Amino acid sequence: MNVLIIGSGGREHAICWTIANSPKLTKLFAAPGNAGIAELAICLPISVEDNQAILRAVHDHSIDFVIIGPEVPLVNGLADLLQSNGIAVFGPSKAAAQIEGSKGFMKDLCAKAGIPTARYARFTDIEKAKTYVEQYGAPIVIKADGLAAGKGVTVAMTKDEALDAIDTAMRDKAFGNAGASLVIEEFMEGEEASFFALADGETAIAFAHAQDHKRAYDGDKGPNTGGMGAYSPAPIITPALQDDIMQRIILPTAKQMVKDGTPFRGIFFAGLMLTKEGPKLIEYNARFGDPETQAMLPRLKSDLLDVLHKTALGRLNEVKLEWHDCAALCVVMAAKGYPGTYQKNTVIKGLDKAADLPNVVVFHAGTINNDGAVLANGGRVLGITGFDESLKKAQQNAYRAVDAIDWPEGFCRRDIGWRALQ
Ligand code: AMP
Ligand code: GLY
Repeated sequence: MNVLIIGSGGREHAICWTIANSPKLTKLFAAPGNAGIAELAICLPISVEDNQAILRAVHDHSIDFVIIGPEVPLVNGLADLLQSNGIAVFGPSKAAAQIEGSKGFMKDLCAKAGIPTARYARFTDIEKAKTYVEQYGAPIVIKADGLAAGKGVTVAMTKDEALDAIDTAMRDKAFGNAGASLVIEEFMEGEEASFFALADGETAIAFAHAQDHKRAYDGDKGPNTGGMGAYSPAPIITPALQDDIMQRIILPTAKQMVKDGTPFRGIFFAGLMLTKEGPKLIEYNARFGDPETQAMLPRLKSDLLDVLHKTALGRLNEVKLEWHDCAALCVVMAAKGYPGTYQKNTVIKGLDKAADLPNVVVFHAGTINNDGAVLANGGRVLGITGFDESLKKAQQNAYRAVDAIDWPEGFCRRDIGWRALQ
């Protein structure tokens, strides 16, 4: 079949790399893709937010199956548009994508289905929000309801911080409309993990798990980012805990969404807090994680294209996942200054040397090809994944490849995986 992947990040490169050798693949397209994806797919210069242009491309190139990577097109209803035109799509409908697009929707769903999560209240009135914080005190967590590019959450350790966060969102409108409505919730303590499960309505199966590093600098210091590295599996998630997560969180979610008339077809990405009382949901995303996917997919033995296609067609009951018995670890290389301002169009060298090392894959995120030279044109630019029989060896492989890359304007963390390896 002809396949189109929507997106341009390391996640989308990892998906392309994994399906490139599928016996089911005829031609692979990406919109818009990046310099790494261009080695595997025909890149179409179309914005992920231009639904109509994507639909035209689907017709022009006789695309049979579309895989949507990022959240924005999901929340914009791209899956609905393609499906109503008879195209198979991996990724949930606009209504189902609200589990990521609206924190309030997600929390109300948890309440209805009895899913363990932080206690919460929703506010559209600034004074009522502040009174709630005055009553409950700190630590407390303030969240903009809508998509805020990962910036809408404040974990406030003091009451003043919480009140400031309310002002930032509601009075100063720092997140635009996304902050017009707030979720204020209980602070949870524990270790975080990312859990992924495929669903096609009521049927849901565990996919894989990972842990990521959100802070920009070593020692989990500095500003929050989209993720500076990840490893999979997450050693803290035992088979028994995985079972518990499926029974208490994923399956009740899938069931409730069917009941509510918003069945979920795609991949649940559950951000979990593993608390003393058991796993609790922090948030849902309605898509693969980035960089988690760069650490999960090199471990997959099954044909990913077949798996995603069957999920899209509502035939998940036919899917049986097989994994290599190995660990993988992805180090993100970002432009110096990220997540703030950074330089663009700097030259990256040594990519082939890095990719030639054993047990390494080099995934591209913000890169472009300029007459044969690879240039950085984004914040997160590369995801270097190492894999091996142990996480320690996977980490060594990844950093050996990082060291082969010659890009003075880039940086990475040197401690990805520390928690699992300590
Ligand atoms: P979110 O965008 O909802 O994933 O939140 C971003 C980060 O804030 C999470 O990865 C957690 O580290 C933290 N966080 C969110 N909600 C809570 C909570 N209720 N308790 C403690 N930490 C939280
Ligand atoms: N790594 C977190 C995310 O994909 O949102």
